[in-house]
Amino acid sequence: MITQQTLIVGANSEIAKALACEILKQQNCGLLLLSRHFDEQWQHERTPEQLQRVKLISVEDYSESSIEHSIDKINSNSQLPITRVFICNGLLHNKTVKPEKRLEDFDAGAFHQVMSANVLTPMLWLQKLTPILTGEVKCKVVLLSARVGSISDNRLGGWYSYRASKAALNMMVKTASIELARRAKNIKLILFHPGTTDSPLSKPFQANVPQNKLFRPEFVATQLLSILDKQEVDGVASYLDWQGDSINW
Ligand SMILES: NC(=O)c1ccc[n+]([C@@H]2O[C@H](COP(=O)([O-])OP(=O)(O)OC[C@H]3O[C@@H](n4cnc5c(N)ncnc54)[C@H](OP(=O)(O)O)[C@@H]3O)[C@@H](O)[C@H]2O)c1
Repeated sequence: MITQQTLIVGANSEIAKALACEILKQQNCGLLLLSRHFDEQWQHERTPEQLQRVKLISVEDYSESSIEHSIDKINSNSQLPITRVFICNGLLHNKTVKPEKRLEDFDAGAFHQVMSANVLTPMLWLQKLTPILTGEVKCKVVLLSARVGSISDNRLGGWYSYRASKAALNMMVKTASIELARRAKNIKLILFHPGTTDSPLSKPFQANVPQNKLFRPEFVATQLLSILDKQEVDGVASYLDWQGDSINW
C-alpha cells in the first residue's frame, strides 16, 4: 500500500532517473516526476505495477508561471504526504554555454543561463513547494549542488559561472534553512554533491577522470538514498558529498 510520495523535479536527469528506479523498489512509495520531457525508454523498462505508482507531470519550461502551473498539478496529486523531494536541475554546458577556462571566456549571456538553471529555478521550486510541504510530516528536500560550489575548496579555479551558481545555490539554501527552522520545522534541506557521475552534464569532461572516480548514476542514487535515511530533521542545512561527508562551505 502506498503511504507516502517522493517528488523529483528535473526528472529527466540521469541521476534523477536512477533515483526514481531505486525509489520504486520501495513498495510503499509513490512517485511524482516532473520534467520538460520524459524518457520513454525509462518508462518501458518499468513494470506495470511500478508505473501505477508513478505520476508524470510535464512542465513547459522552468519559468515562474510554468512552475506555478505545475504546483497546482502537484497539489491535486498530493493526497498522500510528500516525504522526500529531489531538485535535480543543473546546467554546465549546452550549445551556447561552455564552462570558462579563463577570464576572457566569461560571457554575460552564458552566465545568465547558468544562474537561471542552477539558482533561480531551484529557488522558485523551494519557494513554491514550501507551503505544500509544511506540516507535521517530516520532509527531506535535496538540492543537487556540487563540490565546486564550495568557496573554501576552490583550488583549481575556472568554471566561473557554474562555480558561482552552485555557491549561490548553497547560500540560498543555507539562508532558507534558517527561516524554515522557525516556520517549517518538519523540513530538512540538503545540498548534495554526487561526485563526477556519468551523465550528459559531465560527458565532455570525463576524459581526465579516473575510471574509479566516474560514478554510475545507480551508485549515486543508492548512496544518496541511504545518506538521506540517516539525516535528522534538525533545522540545519547540510552540504554533503556522495559518501555522506560534510563539505566545507
Ligand atoms: N554529473 C555530474 O558529474 C555532476 C557533478 C556534480 C553535480 N551535479 C549536479 O547534479 C544535478 C543533475 O545532473 P545530471 O548529471 O543528472 O545531469 P543531466 O542528466 O544533464 O540533467 C540535467 C538536469 O538539469 C535540468 N536542466 C537542463 N537545462 C536546464 C535549464 N536551462 N533550466 C532548468 N533546468 C535545466 C534538466 O531538467 P529536465 O528534466 O526538465 O530536462 C535535468 O534535470 C545537476 O544539478 C548537476 O549540476 C552533477
